[in-house]
Amino acid sequence: MQLIQCQSKDDAVKKVAGILFDYISDSTKKVFGLATGRTMEPVYAELIRLIKESGADLTGKSFFMLDEYYGLPDNHESSFKFYIKTHFQNPLGLKDEQIFFPPVHLDNAGEKYEEDIRRMGGVDLQLLGIGQNGHIGFNEPGSRKNSLTRRVDLTPETIEANREQFVGDIIPVDALSMGIGTILRAKSLVMLATGKSKADVIQFLVNNKDDPSCPASFLKDHNHFLLVLDPEAASKIS
Ligand code: GLP
Repeated sequence: MQLIQCQSKDDAVKKVAGILFDYISDSTKKVFGLATGRTMEPVYAELIRLIKESGADLTGKSFFMLDEYYGLPDNHESSFKFYIKTHFQNPLGLKDEQIFFPPVHLDNAGEKYEEDIRRMGGVDLQLLGIGQNGHIGFNEPGSRKNSLTRRVDLTPETIEANREQFVGDIIPVDALSMGIGTILRAKSLVMLATGKSKADVIQFLVNNKDDPSCPASFLKDHNHFLLVLDPEAASKIS
């Protein structure tokens, strides 16, 4: 794992957006995995700025979502589909056929998604955030290292962390998530963590490997795994 400690949250966001932009501008890179969450909102804003400023052409590029909740109406404002349409697809005017959302409406959703990823040639660059409990996508603690895209139960702490987003609504309790094995098949991984709330999990991630209590630690052996941190997320590592 390569680690970059940036001097500010803005520098960390710009670093990750710049890496994504370099990959998207590379004609040999076609398939990208997209993460959601609060961490990524400024990353997409900066990436869109870079793309629009350069006039980069995204024709032929495909984007796969890491995860999606079960049980939400398609256009629910807290669905990850709505998130990516709002923060990425619509501002760039990307076609629907360029964006792959976990098909939560299908019975064989996991197998279908894995087949789509294979059919598109595999993920060149996977963007990742990290949950406070070390989850990646919705691979919660206890997820297997060789897990693939499947329905997963959300932990009580993840459900609790989501409470504010689902005010007055049913809070999802399960999701369709790329597996850890799926993520490990990507050619490159870039993880961004910012803010004090991630300091503990980053300290654990940096000091542990292949620990089921922190699914992100299964990524340590990947030969192209870059972890980018702001000072707050890095505040508990030497
Ligand atoms: C969410 C998503 C993850 C995301 C993580 C952190 O539940 N399933 O893909 O990385 O939790 O989210 P945030 O960036 O809002 O802290």
